[in-house]
Amino acid sequence: MALGEPGFGVYVHWPFCMAKCPYCDFNSHVRHIAPDQERIARAFVTEIETTAARTGKRTVNSIFFGGGTPSLMEPATVETILNAISKNWSVCENAEITMEANPTSVEAERFSAYRSAGVNRISLGVQALNDEDLRFLGRMHSVEQALKAVDLARNTFPRLSFDLIYARPNQTPEAWGKELERAIGFAADHLSLYQLTIEPDTPFFKLFHAGKFPMPDEDTSVALYKTTHAICDAHGMPAYEISNHAREGAECRHNLIYWRYGEYAGIGPGAHGRLVSGNVRFATEMEKMPETWLDHVEKYGHGWILDDPLTLEQQGDEYLLMGLRLKEGIDLERFESLSQRTLDPGRLTDLVGHGMIEVVDGKRVRATREGFFVLDAVVADLAS
Ligand SMILES: C[S@@+](CC[C@H](N)C(=O)[O-])C[C@H]1O[C@@H](n2cnc3c(N)ncnc32)[C@H](O)[C@@H]1O
Ligand code: SF4
Repeated sequence: MALGEPGFGVYVHWPFCMAKCPYCDFNSHVRHIAPDQERIARAFVTEIETTAARTGKRTVNSIFFGGGTPSLMEPATVETILNAISKNWSVCENAEITMEANPTSVEAERFSAYRSAGVNRISLGVQALNDEDLRFLGRMHSVEQALKAVDLARNTFPRLSFDLIYARPNQTPEAWGKELERAIGFAADHLSLYQLTIEPDTPFFKLFHAGKFPMPDEDTSVALYKTTHAICDAHGMPAYEISNHAREGAECRHNLIYWRYGEYAGIGPGAHGRLVSGNVRFATEMEKMPETWLDHVEKYGHGWILDDPLTLEQQGDEYLLMGLRLKEGIDLERFESLSQRTLDPGRLTDLVGHGMIEVVDGKRVRATREGFFVLDAVVADLAS
């Protein structure tokens, strides 16, 4: 993976789902009356125009439809948005265009139309390869349906990734290892492997704290994480980020823009962006509630509820937080130019001494595998 310029990406958020999964705290909403896609598509176009008027002409390296469940979008909606992006910016010839999709049969039926619209990478939310756990996770698909969707996706899109959630209640490292080996056999070029997290204000939060199901203890979590890495390494899919694994060259270019602290426009309800204007980097955020967002875009041309310049200190902290998630780590010169400060040599020496980080050729700092287990503490130590 080349350590080049981070690039410019466009993130498009589709905020609707068929049902709300009990673990999920993403900006996703269930509506019993189907949203008016033509009206929403017009609002996306308006917001793209407003954002592009602000950034000026840029070369877009990557576009990412995330959610929610973007595979509930009509292909025509996807096409309208992609056309607006091409019209207002310049999309590079080999741009990565990803869509997150849920592997139900209804959504899989639209795959070829998404491909015709320009999507060239699909990220499927498979989550588990056993039906009991899929039911526990509140998913609307079975293993069989998920595998059919994987098969169809592989034959439709040049690039395929899928997500699995592990560290589920009572899951042993042995059982997870077998499930992961089976998953790798389905020939995706990229896997996102997340440990189940109990997020505040979700049904799982209440159920877990009411003692309705157990979560793995710390030792089991570490063993599960080590199993994940050992198996992925053995199958040529090493981690390039704390939860993301890829064959060489198949890393998600869009997410690399975030982790390498590049520039990205966030379009749609709740989308976040980082836009650079002159020497100043702005943090942007859109109104989350889809109906309010729509109303704002129709009235004001955009749904921005946050548009704040970041201080040098904030930029340095964000670069550390994002960049140290990557195996390649951070570039010291870039850190200094973003934050106008240097990392404390005493802290660096301490963290190296404790085996948490490595300094490579005096130019880069990266977390060791041990450091990854306590990454938040490592970042906090370096940032302070
Ligand atoms: C926002 S979802 C969008 C993808 C799609 N809607 C789906 O569910 O397949 C992105 C990914 O985040 C992961 N995720 C969401 N909440 C999580 C949690 N509480 N713990 C672990 N992973 C989570 C899931 O693997 C999911 O595929
Ligand atoms: S995990 Fe995916 S499908 Fe489930 S509620 Fe969240 S965004 Fe929707």
